[in-house]
Amino acid sequence: MTSAALQIQDYALLEDEDCDTRIIAAKEKLGDRCVILGHHYQRDEVFKHADFSGDSLKLSRDAAESNAEYIVFCGVHFMAEVADILSRPEQIAILPDMAAGCSMADMANLTNVQRCWDELSQILDPEAQVTPITYINSAADLKAFCGKHEGIVCTSSNAQKILEWSFEKREKVLFFPDQHLGRNTGYRMGIPLEEMVTWDFTKPMGGLTEQQIRDAKIILWKGFCSVHQIFQPEHIDRFLEKYPETKVISHPEASFEVCQKSDFVGSTETILRIVKESEPGTRWLVGTELNLVNRLHEQCKDQGKNVHFMSPTVCMCSTMFRTDPQHLAWILENLAEGRVVNQIKVEAEQAQYAKKALDAMLSI
Ligand code: 13P
Ligand code: SF4
Repeated sequence: MTSAALQIQDYALLEDEDCDTRIIAAKEKLGDRCVILGHHYQRDEVFKHADFSGDSLKLSRDAAESNAEYIVFCGVHFMAEVADILSRPEQIAILPDMAAGCSMADMANLTNVQRCWDELSQILDPEAQVTPITYINSAADLKAFCGKHEGIVCTSSNAQKILEWSFEKREKVLFFPDQHLGRNTGYRMGIPLEEMVTWDFTKPMGGLTEQQIRDAKIILWKGFCSVHQIFQPEHIDRFLEKYPETKVISHPEASFEVCQKSDFVGSTETILRIVKESEPGTRWLVGTELNLVNRLHEQCKDQGKNVHFMSPTVCMCSTMFRTDPQHLAWILENLAEGRVVNQIKVEAEQAQYAKKALDAMLSI
């Protein structure tokens, strides 16, 4: 008979150092039956225990290729859903804290997206004219929506290729939930701003006229990331006044104005690579999440590089931050004793269609 599950309350008051010892011991016991994936926004105390780290695209590939029985995802909810969808049926995806969501992902839901599709049908023939693209930062049912309507998923590192693929199939794209990734990528591809309209999901017909919809190449959902919206063009201007030699690099979830003022725009993995490969002594201003920026500064300071956070006010992804060593220790000690807690399981039909959209992305 298996004993009762260990409770998270019993871990809440543990010191981080005690958690470390217990995490290492449980990992050792589990061996290659368990793999820990860590997104770049995780805090150091958790990140150091990850077997693999990466951006959303790399981590989805790591999850798809893993042979481990348990995939523990130190990230947010949609990432663990992707791990469940892409892994084999007998593998188990786990999210250490069930409350670790993504506020941007929550800005689009199936009801609103379906309503948008229905409203577009009054003007266009969406099945023939519109490819739905969901950013990977979205719930599984929206990925399934894309799978059902011959659409696709994208991440911040492959958005351009995915848009190109989509325009080969149909003349227009409905892009959700992040307006900024869609706009920044579309503009880089030469699509004028006037041909990228914003669909306000709180208004009938997205608050757009029939003509605006007919003329649009990309219909952008009015979603955004609460972390990346704090970065402002003035932050760049002020910093450059003080340190004109600075290189600026931003995540494409930042606004159009911020990305236009940046020397480079890319996913978290790309930001890390470009800064790490830069000349010794370089100064960087980085428009993405604080934990990544602080860690990058620590890793690069020996080469005389200075890596600065773009905003004068400190702001981290609070949902990523929910995963702490206490939750990780709780998850792993339960697994080491043969009990699964916090499994993420996507319902079968939804998973099947979501996988179609994810596989389409991974094959590009
Ligand atoms: P990346 O895919 O670039 O890691 O981005 C994920 C994310 O949530 C950024 O906010
Ligand atoms: Fe979501 Fe923004 Fe956090 Fe990324 S940084 S997980 S988009 S809330």
